[in-house]
Amino acid sequence: MLNNKGFDLWADGYNKAVGLSEEENTYPFAGYKNLLAAIYKNVLKKEKPDVLDIGFGTGTLTAKLYGMGCNIYGQDFSQRMIELAREKMPDAHLYQGDFSQGIVKPLLETSYDFIIATYSLHHLTDDEKVVFIKNLKGLLKEDGTIFIGDVAFLTREELETCRREAGSAWDKDEIYFVADELQETFPEMEFTRISYCAGILSFKK
Ligand SMILES: C[S@@+](CC[C@H](N)C(=O)[O-])C[C@H]1O[C@@H](n2cnc3c(N)ncnc32)[C@H](O)[C@@H]1O
Repeated sequence: MLNNKGFDLWADGYNKAVGLSEEENTYPFAGYKNLLAAIYKNVLKKEKPDVLDIGFGTGTLTAKLYGMGCNIYGQDFSQRMIELAREKMPDAHLYQGDFSQGIVKPLLETSYDFIIATYSLHHLTDDEKVVFIKNLKGLLKEDGTIFIGDVAFLTREELETCRREAGSAWDKDEIYFVADELQETFPEMEFTRISYCAGILSFKK
């Protein structure tokens, strides 16, 4: 599992690496652009919303939302990722902090129209994901929504098929979302498939 220093080293080459996997339609980033675009479109249905991005990385998605007038808040543990994102969003409220330890204090003081997390929460175990999502729900405004976009599958069987096909490219340290298993805890959760290995999970308060 990459720690914050690992992500610091990956930061400058991140967009290129993602772009290659996305263009070749290969695991893990097949569908990346469409996934970000779908979340972007949903968030912009609201005017000037308050948006919290967990693991915002270089700010690929949030910088676009920022450019459209959204109030951007975020947490990431990589100093370098934060620097790159801050260049694009000088007035955003960006904080350094490890989300496996929870949300940093200043971000707990606001309620959000949207909480988004793309390709970041697969660093939590399945049990940690449940606790984390429950905590995030508490940070939503009454009509708010959480969008988690990631390597994700409807069933464990689909995940296993992808694992077999990916072979040595499969990242054994990452723990991907399986929608029908998560739905046992969050029956209201919706799953939108974006590619054979990506999807968006959405949760209301
Ligand atoms: C694969 S990148 C995704 C970046 C961006 N959301 C995107 O869609 O391109 C994962 C991001 O999550 C951050 N991250 C991973 N584990 C984290 C943790 N435990 N706490 C805070 N940030 C973390 C990394 O630093 C990195 O910026």
